[in-house]
Amino acid sequence: MVERSGAEREESSGAERKEALLVTDKRTGKTYEISIIGGAIRATDLKQIKVDDGDPGLISYDPAYLNTACCRSAITFIDGDRGILRYRGYPIEELAEHSTYLETAYLLIHGELPTRAELEEWTEEIRHHTMIHENIKKFMDGFNYDAHPMGMLVGTLGALSTFYPEARDIQNPVSRHREIVRLIAKMPTLAAFAYRHLRGLPYVYPDNELSYIGNFLNMMWKVGGDRYTPDPLVERSLDVIFILHADHEQNLSTHTMRVVGSSRVDPYSAMAAATAALYGPLHGGANEAVVRMLQEIGSPERVPAYLERVKRGEIRLMGFGHRIYKSYDPRAKVLKGIAEKICAVTRRNPLLDVALELERQALEDEYFIRRRLYPNVDFYSGLIFQALGFPVEMFPVLFAIPRTSGWLAHWNEMLEDPEQKIARPRQIYSGPGERPYLPLAEREGIQGRKLQPGPATFPRR
Ligand code: CMC
Repeated sequence: MVERSGAEREESSGAERKEALLVTDKRTGKTYEISIIGGAIRATDLKQIKVDDGDPGLISYDPAYLNTACCRSAITFIDGDRGILRYRGYPIEELAEHSTYLETAYLLIHGELPTRAELEEWTEEIRHHTMIHENIKKFMDGFNYDAHPMGMLVGTLGALSTFYPEARDIQNPVSRHREIVRLIAKMPTLAAFAYRHLRGLPYVYPDNELSYIGNFLNMMWKVGGDRYTPDPLVERSLDVIFILHADHEQNLSTHTMRVVGSSRVDPYSAMAAATAALYGPLHGGANEAVVRMLQEIGSPERVPAYLERVKRGEIRLMGFGHRIYKSYDPRAKVLKGIAEKICAVTRRNPLLDVALELERQALEDEYFIRRRLYPNVDFYSGLIFQALGFPVEMFPVLFAIPRTSGWLAHWNEMLEDPEQKIARPRQIYSGPGERPYLPLAEREGIQGRKLQPGPATFPRR
């Protein structure tokens, strides 16, 4: 996290030029000056640090990118210590209170909030592109009856690339805009169709008279001839949840979108990859784990015993802790309010009482205080989705729909960034040195012959 506006950067550029790191290489005794720009050093500046002429130069080692910035981005700012999240400078709390998902998506993609006319045009464009090709329906029919909706989403997104070959024109901003609109418009349709397939229900076509959220809920829940009319609180709550999930800077799926997109592939293929990254239980799947944990606890009285198991290191408290947020997750704060409102109008979810008690006790407990563990976005979102009637398998899909705008904003930014190239990290080779090819007959009984872990052949059935 390095926060500086463009103007601040310009103003301080003179001073920044003087900021540098003096590094002495104890292997050679040589000292190097490495420039610090915007709070960072360039990893490629380390290449000059060599033992001798044959040395390719020093590289930095950072598995899982714990302390490596891979881009400059003007989209989202996070300060994990102070619990701050802003899209294009606007605090998430203000957007959650005043904006809509479509307006926020416009902000993420274009960099500014739309005027009334721009918002109307944007909304109209999205409406116009909600339909999917009939062959995609046939493609979906081919999935097994119990296929996970997230797997269907990954597959159909990849398949969409074959329907829009013009999307490969990724250097053309007009073409990029058209595909961004198509993807934001079609995600709810793909998601709802995946759900209907899972339930064996007929697909419901998009109804463009409805709002973005209203249309999605209608495609999900409509039965028979009548339109599904959502409770305004439910519709608004889902809109706010979508705002909160729209972007989160360089998280795994966004990084995947950038990395795969850096090969200059079309955005449907890159988004299939980003969706696959989100599918994993350590990323978009944690909200599901929270609900299962609360079900396991069962009642508020059983919270202390559960916390003891957490403190003994037997289990983790799902929906708690975050790599970046170390004071609180601002999204969780907003979601807690929504969970309380939703649970007041739907049948009260007994798991909410367990969640509230769990949060209360954990926040007073020395173990969690010392490690700065607070509820994260997933602590309450799963409960809300459950109260709204979504099956657990749909939770990561509900994350993917709004994250589409964040993925595409980053994809667009990456393609316009002259510093970006095809992503290609380095490695530290740890395998054997050069050795001659060994003929098959000579391989038996060789001392020290090591196989990689796992069976050398598949077990026979
Ligand atoms: N329950 C109990 N102890 C925890 C937890 C937890 N949820 N999270 C961290 N700790 C402890 C951990 O055991 C360690 O203790 P010690 O110092 O004694 O070894 C200390 O806190 C630091 O943990 P860490 O593993 O270094 O923290 P991390 O930054 O690598 O992990 C995390 C972040 C989110 C993976 C982790 O907090 C976790 O597993 N949380 C539960 C899963 C979860 O809710 N994931 C959703 C993340 S938010 C969604 C998103 O933004 O993508």
